Amino acid sequence: MTVIYLVIAALLVFITASSSAETEHQKQRFHGVQKNGNQCVCTVRFAEWEFPVERFKELQDLSQNCSSSLNERLSEITAINFKIQVFLEEMQNETARLKQFEAMQKQRLYHPLNFWPLRWDLKRLQSEIAKVQNVSLPNTKALQTISSELNNSYVSVLNLQLYDKHNLLNMKDRLKKIKNRLESFSVYGNVKIGNCSGGMLRNVTRPLIAQLNPYGSSYPYGAWGMDSMPGSPELYWVMALLSSNIYGNSIRTYSSYKTFLMSNTHVDFTVESSYTTPNAIQGPGVVLYNGSLYYNCYKSGEMCKFNLNTKNIIHVNLPNAGHSNKFPYCYYDCYGYTDIDFSVDENGIWVIYATEENYGNIVLSKINSNNLAVLQTWKTKLFKKATSNAFMVCGVLYATRYVSKNEEEIFYMFDTVTNQEAKNLNIRLIKFSPDVASLHYNPVDRKLYLFNGGYMLSYGVLFS
Ligand SMILES: *[C@@H]1O[C@H](CO)[C@@H](O)[C@H](O)[C@H]1NC(C)=O
Ligand SMILES: *[C@@H]1O[C@H](CO)[C@@H](O)[C@H](O)[C@H]1NC(C)=O
Ligand SMILES: *[C@@H]1O[C@H](CO)[C@@H](O)[C@H](O)[C@H]1NC(C)=O
Ligand SMILES: *[C@@H]1O[C@H](CO)[C@@H](O)[C@H](O)[C@H]1NC(C)=O
Ligand SMILES: *[C@@H]1O[C@H](CO)[C@@H](O)[C@H](O)[C@H]1NC(C)=O
Ligand SMILES: *[C@@H]1O[C@H](CO)[C@@H](O)[C@H](O)[C@H]1NC(C)=O
Ligand SMILES: *[C@@H]1O[C@H](CO)[C@@H](O)[C@H](O)[C@H]1NC(C)=O
Repeated sequence: MTVIYLVIAALLVFITASSSAETEHQKQRFHGVQKNGNQCVCTVRFAEWEFPVERFKELQDLSQNCSSSLNERLSEITAINFKIQVFLEEMQNETARLKQFEAMQKQRLYHPLNFWPLRWDLKRLQSEIAKVQNVSLPNTKALQTISSELNNSYVSVLNLQLYDKHNLLNMKDRLKKIKNRLESFSVYGNVKIGNCSGGMLRNVTRPLIAQLNPYGSSYPYGAWGMDSMPGSPELYWVMALLSSNIYGNSIRTYSSYKTFLMSNTHVDFTVESSYTTPNAIQGPGVVLYNGSLYYNCYKSGEMCKFNLNTKNIIHVNLPNAGHSNKFPYCYYDCYGYTDIDFSVDENGIWVIYATEENYGNIVLSKINSNNLAVLQTWKTKLFKKATSNAFMVCGVLYATRYVSKNEEEIFYMFDTVTNQEAKNLNIRLIKFSPDVASLHYNPVDRKLYLFNGGYMLSYGVLFS
């Protein structure tokens, strides 16, 4: 309840105006008290005769909003009803077609028209073969065999139409087998991928190491791994983000696998005096390489490199990179501030990000590990926000997506040597928590390192 003290001059005007407007409702008398000699002060209980104009306006708005949103819903429902009609009709049509087919099969009666879908499938297979053939395969002979088998099938179908001799199911079975064999030959099948001997990533083991990070479960975002430079001392490291899981300013290191597992002796390195200092760490896309930490600098689109031995920091702009949550990894939920993600493979250090110029799709740059200069850049057609993470192996970019609380899928690859991409890898990764903060490959031990809702997990990888 508002109690307002009014100076008498203003009050007189006010009461006159209000009471003349509301004469038919009620009149009220207010007692004044003389104060400071020439002022008369009254106490008015404002709410008793106030019309709630603002509240009324708000409710009016709300009801307008409600009715317009109701109208939207209504038109959606109309649209959906219409679609359902179409689906129903399609389904009825398909069912009718199927019935026809079954009846004919029972009577062993075929009509040339029934072979049209089959012929269409065959045509599609042929064009798939043509695509595969375009890639220079080491094993073209096997493909030629399949190709001529397919051609034979095509000829058989033509003959079938003329003679109705063969069993349709038999034919379909043959086609399916050819198709399976063809799939095992698909573009990324036997082709040389990337530019090291390993070949292509085929499967991932169950987690080999699974351990809560040393700061505890209230630090769900961060990164961990082992120095990724071949020949570097074995140095395990953990970086946990503070400040709403966005910024960090130190890393913890362990001088061997054993001390890491026992967590008994560690050395902490302070990158910057606080996590709100320029050149502090932003986001979990960090990696330790050749005794230096590579990371996205605090509130910027710059790349930072902190040398653990000299404590020296250098920072260099990453041209056009979306940063500070413009293009993070997302999939269902966004993993905050994962815009700029470093990765190391057999070829050295890379940075994975996205640009407006490439429509938010993943851009990949190879960088000079000493001065952070961009050496070469590749543009992919994969929307960065439609992935949950990405990493490099042998010059090939792999990207992951969320499958379930306990599973992640490596579904995409982009080969920087041939600029080829594939989107159907289906390599599954078991995880402990839904959240994937950072995932990278280490070419030294050829393992994947995942920071997963506070858990540090590592996996073996299988190539072929
Ligand atoms: C009504 O919708 C408008 C525009 O969408 C919005 O600005 C306003 O806050 C809404 N009013 C209420 C009361 O929700
Ligand atoms: C279903 O079949 C009828 C008659 O053949 C055709 O007119 C109609 O377009 C078909 N509907 C759909 C959704 O395919
Ligand atoms: C195969 O490559 C040739 C030239 O390199 C190209 O013209 C043709 O379209 C390609 N065919 C397919 C199916 O990709
Ligand atoms: C497929 O077979 C037909 C007839 O036997 C032949 O004319 C054609 O060249 C063959 N096509 C291929 C791609 O082998
Ligand atoms: C991949 O590895 C997992 C775990 O070792 C295994 O269960 C699965 O069958 C493998 N998948 C393939 C396609 O080899
Ligand atoms: C590794 O670090 C050493 C010392 O800082 C430097 O001389 C060397 O160039 C670095 N190598 C790479 C590949 O970054
Ligand atoms: C492999 O490819 C990457 C980029 O495509 C290149 O930077 C690197 O030098 C290559 N390495 C070898 C050994 O060819």
